[in-house]
Amino acid sequence: MSFTVAVDGPAAAGKGTISRAVAAHFGFAHLDTGLLYRAVGARMLAGEKPIAAAEALLPEDLERPELRTAEVAQAASKVAVIAEVRAALVDFQRAFARRAGGAVLDGRDIGTVICPRAQAKLFVTASAEVRATRRLKELLAAGHPTTLAEVLEDVKARDARDMNRSEAPLKPAQDAVQIDTSALSIEEAVEMAIAAIEARR
Ligand code: DC
Repeated sequence: MSFTVAVDGPAAAGKGTISRAVAAHFGFAHLDTGLLYRAVGARMLAGEKPIAAAEALLPEDLERPELRTAEVAQAASKVAVIAEVRAALVDFQRAFARRAGGAVLDGRDIGTVICPRAQAKLFVTASAEVRATRRLKELLAAGHPTTLAEVLEDVKARDARDMNRSEAPLKPAQDAVQIDTSALSIEEAVEMAIAAIEARR
């Protein structure tokens, strides 16, 4: 039987970390849906038209190392406002969600649009300052030189675009359990997520 966990929230709130830990805990497959939009964004930066790129997306596009850069993140957030881009990515995400062994999908619209009937929904947030500080550490560790001010500006620009678009805007599903990770350790946040999912099993 399939069991789908939908994890949504803004950039760098801890969705990825929580989703990976939850998937490992329950033995579920995990899909970071942001990678789909990043892969389309990267192909747009390379000169392709976003809709054509989304329609022609290949599994190996999700493996490219440059998907983690701030430039690709902004491009992802820009292509993500295009209805045809989003539509081209729906079937792949829904098929993944129906995997027999259970699946965790993280993104912006999983609980609201992609999997409105997911058995468990989480909405993971944190203040913009906390998220920018975390993202700064990741970017520096990955060898991408930047500053806190630059990352904060980036995070806020992406939040505004993701929340205010007309297609599948970022917002909590009515039945989502909200987890604010601003003052939580990774262990505490993961524990809360696992408890919320256990309650739906
Ligand atoms: O989660 P992320 O930072 O890798 O996502 C990159 C961008 O992709 C994000 O700013 C908005 C878009 N996105 C989306 O619109 N819907 C999703 N389910 C996942 C990501």
